[in-house]
Order: sequence, then C-alpha cells, then structure tokens
Amino acid sequence: MARSGVDEFYEIIRLILVKYYAELSGLQTLPSREDCDLLLKQHASEVAEILDGVLSMQTPADLFPELQSIFGTVSIVRQDFTALDQAFEQLTSRSYKSDKGQYFTPRHVVDMCVEAVDPKPGETVCDPACGSAAFLKSAHAYGMRTYGEAASLHGFDFSHRACQVARTVSLVGAKGGIRIDQVDSLRLAARTLLDGPGNTIETLMGEKFEGFDVVVTNPPFAGDVGAESFVSDYELASIYGRRLERDVLFVERCIRLLKDGGRLAIVLPDNKVSGRTFRDLRLWLGRHALIKSVVSLHRYTFLPYTGQKAAVIFAVKRPPSMEAYSSEILFFRSDKPGKTSNGSFVYRPGGDPAAPPYEALDHDLDEAARTIRSALCAA
Ligand SMILES: C[S@@+](CC[C@H](N)C(=O)[O-])C[C@H]1O[C@@H](n2cnc3c(N)ncnc32)[C@H](O)[C@@H]1O
Repeated sequence: MARSGVDEFYEIIRLILVKYYAELSGLQTLPSREDCDLLLKQHASEVAEILDGVLSMQTPADLFPELQSIFGTVSIVRQDFTALDQAFEQLTSRSYKSDKGQYFTPRHVVDMCVEAVDPKPGETVCDPACGSAAFLKSAHAYGMRTYGEAASLHGFDFSHRACQVARTVSLVGAKGGIRIDQVDSLRLAARTLLDGPGNTIETLMGEKFEGFDVVVTNPPFAGDVGAESFVSDYELASIYGRRLERDVLFVERCIRLLKDGGRLAIVLPDNKVSGRTFRDLRLWLGRHALIKSVVSLHRYTFLPYTGQKAAVIFAVKRPPSMEAYSSEILFFRSDKPGKTSNGSFVYRPGGDPAAPPYEALDHDLDEAARTIRSALCAA
C-alpha cells in the first residue's frame, strides 16, 4: 500500500469491516473490489462515521488480488483480537510518535483489571483514555459470560484515530455495545463563559449523570500537561505545580468521574506507586479512595513495545461516611509475565492449543483478579 499512496490506516479498517460483513453473510474469502464497495454501502449506517464517510476501497485494482490472497484466509469473526490489537498498535503508533507513553495494554492485564472490578449489568463503566477500547471490549465479554448481559460501556479518547479503532472494535467485537466519544477527558467543566464551549465527559453523558460505577483505564504514561486553562482546577496541580504529569492528573480525574463507592482500576508507571516524589499523590488518593490492592507487573509485561515497569492500583471511591486510610491493602507481585525478555509469548505447559493465544499465556494474574474482586466487593 505504501507504493500506492493509500492511507493504510483507513484502508485496513475498511478491509476488516468488509471481511467481517462478508463472513456474516457466509463467505470465507475477501470478495471482489466492487462487492467490497457494495458491502460498505449496504452497511453505511454502521460504518460511515468510522470511515469518515469514505465508503469505497482505495487500493488500486492491480494490487487487489494480492490483498485477496493475503487477507482472504484471515477470519475476523473467529479471531481473538490479539491480531487486531497488534495491527492497531502498528497503525496508531506512527501518529503517536511525538507523544510517548501510549502503549496498548496486554490482553491478560486488561482481563485481570476487568475481572477484579466486576462490571455488572445496569452499571456504567468508563475508560477515559480508551485507545482501542480493549478494557471495554473485555468488560463486554465479561458481562456476557458472567451475567448474560453487559454493563453500559463508555469510552473516551482525544485522538480521532483511536476513536475510529475503538468504534471498529465495538462493532466487530461487542455488537456495537460500546459508546465512543472523542473528547479531552482531562477537561473539566468550564468555569466562566470565557473558557468557551467544549465538551467534557460530563456534558457528553447528559444532565442526569451522577458519576460512573466503574472506571478502568491505562492512561498515557508520559508527557507533562501544558497550560490548559482547566488544569488549575485540579487539586493535584497545587502540589505538583509546573512538573505536572498527565498520569497524575488522570488519577484525580478518574476519582472525580466515579460516584461514591465506585470502583477503580488504573495502570500506572511504577514511580507513581513507589517513587518518593509521588508520595503526595498516594496520600491524596488515600484521602479520596480506599486503596484495596496494588499489583506490581513484571518488567517484561509491555514488551516488545516498552520495558517500562508498571503497576495496577485498585480502589473504591470513599464515601464521606468512611474513614480515610482505613483500608487493608493487598499487595501482589507478578513473577510470570507470559513473555520472554524479547517480548515473545510464553505459553502454559499442556495448555489448550485451540484456545486463543493470550488465554494460554503462562502468567499469574488470574488468582490476583479473583482475590481483588472479593476485596472490592466487600468495600
Ligand atoms: C496507553 S493508551 C491506552 C490504551 C488502551 N488502554 C488500550 O490498551 O488499548 C492511552 C490513550 O489515552 C489517550 N489520551 C491521552 N491523553 C488523553 C486525554 N487528555 N483525553 C483523552 N484521551 C487521551 C491516547 O490517545 C491513547 O489512546
């Protein structure tokens, strides 16, 4: 595609969508270029927004047979999203180059977080930095598997392309059951008319919104926050002043987005959990939430994309009736990352070869998820 000048990002999304619809209609191969265009037009109401209105394949006709032979053998309906994740990781990382720390979360970490926060039907779940909507897709599968119904799922991201990927994942992986909005999630309500119009998560959720039951997220790990007018409204801004990191703001934002008693799972770089500089962040969190558990992830967990060490904090937003710093905290350290030092997968001995690859990974997060779920539910 590089040879043809086609924007491969949208063309690959178009390919995934036409293959998905072709499979739903019983075809196992990629149809002709003309039939692909027909499929896109037939499903325009579902795909026009995702594709920014371009409903025809852009790959030159002489390259199309090659696409058919490569892509025709891939099943979209039956695959487990590991491949889709990797494709999106490749496609989006280029546009994120100037913006470090936007790594997609490995599936088994996502599943641990979701199982621990246990999103139930009737509850609202939010990921304010949703990327490819991995947490919400997992929450959808969890709800269907555990309760026969999923919670109400809301993803937000300020990147247009991330939203398009998330919408594709919602359509193909969750029957359209995840709502995705493009917004700067850190933006708080305008204080004065001079702040100007601009959406916030609260305005997008509507007047009756009183906070989410669950927030589950992996915010960007890097980058300081600029001089956006809303930043000074954050309590943590007064502690960290000029050296305000985005993930610090996301911690406060997540707590603000929850209703009292709401459950939080947030993936953070290790320095937020253990570094001396971020002691005040932890004290702030302890005042506003009951920290229930900390899972220290293995250094290999995010390989091959980054060797950054990370941890997950699980907490419950503290209702005023409960005393601060009163919770017992369960600490876990993951020793089995399911990856080697070069980032390739390590599978459980004797694992089911027919299972999706990430389900057969040799990791130790399942037990932690079950124990944390009991602790969060008891809160
Ligand atoms: C680490 S990635 C999350 C990846 C996602 N959890 C996944 O595994 O697919 C962080 C995401 O946050 C988004 N982001 C960063 N700052 C944001 C902001 N202020 N508002 C909304 N989204 C933001 C980025 O565009 C990126 O998609």
